[in-house]
Amino acid sequence: MINMNSQYRDTFEALAKQIPFEPEICIVLGSGLGDFAEKVETVKSISTSSLPNYPQSTVEGHSGFLHFSKYADKKLLIIQGRIHLYEGYRISQCVVPVFIASKLNCKKILLTNAAGGVNINFKPGDLMLATSLNGINIQKELTDLIGLASLEQKNSIKDFPSESFNNIIRKAAVDKGIRLKEGVYWYNKGPTYETPAEIKYMGKFGADAVGMSTVHEAIYAAYLGLSVASISCITNYAAGLSPQKLSHQEVMETAELVKKDFEGLVKKIIELS
Ligand code: HPA
Repeated sequence: MINMNSQYRDTFEALAKQIPFEPEICIVLGSGLGDFAEKVETVKSISTSSLPNYPQSTVEGHSGFLHFSKYADKKLLIIQGRIHLYEGYRISQCVVPVFIASKLNCKKILLTNAAGGVNINFKPGDLMLATSLNGINIQKELTDLIGLASLEQKNSIKDFPSESFNNIIRKAAVDKGIRLKEGVYWYNKGPTYETPAEIKYMGKFGADAVGMSTVHEAIYAAYLGLSVASISCITNYAAGLSPQKLSHQEVMETAELVKKDFEGLVKKIIELS
């Protein structure tokens, strides 16, 4: 088991000196959804490159930010700049934002992501609430991180993703007139997209959406006792389900189109939380 407290003591101590408040809700922004941070009041933004030992995004010019923000009287920690296993990072590095959220006493974490639609009833532009998350491709890493045995013993994991948090999200979607899809998010380590055969396999075993993040963050957050929910922006048909070739460009373009709905939904979720 990895001791995050000792590995990231310096990171946390440097951060703790600067924070304007203890946030209640953490929101991790997925690919193409980063603009949300500008749609709420920012009290303080801290560049992750200023924090010792904080893993940096490998994409040039894209330093990460931890935004301490406010909306509807709620104190937020917004994470802009996710850390992925496919960038060559270890799992303990990928969950640093979750570790920080927990150390700052956040009670809830909303994980957002871009994902391919495996369910044939989903189309690009849909938003999907995760009713379950599949980490079968990442079990070894999770064992290194927390030990699966101890994870199974956690009561909190029985409510994972959090049903009460998911109910807030369902209500927020109804209030905003958004037809929220629901389903299973399936993790693929990446960095390559899946083959059509892999998508067929995942679909047979219950996947509704596939992406390259979230599951380890979600499991670690639940392990630390946070209420967890995940919303996917379906940015494309998964491989083999449409004649179009998959590209990061398409992912970013669809995320751009769905931005307004996403912003409205997340704001409503914050209000109702
Ligand atoms: N597969 C994996 N990750 C993704 C996809 C996909 O089709 N779309 C956006 N992220």
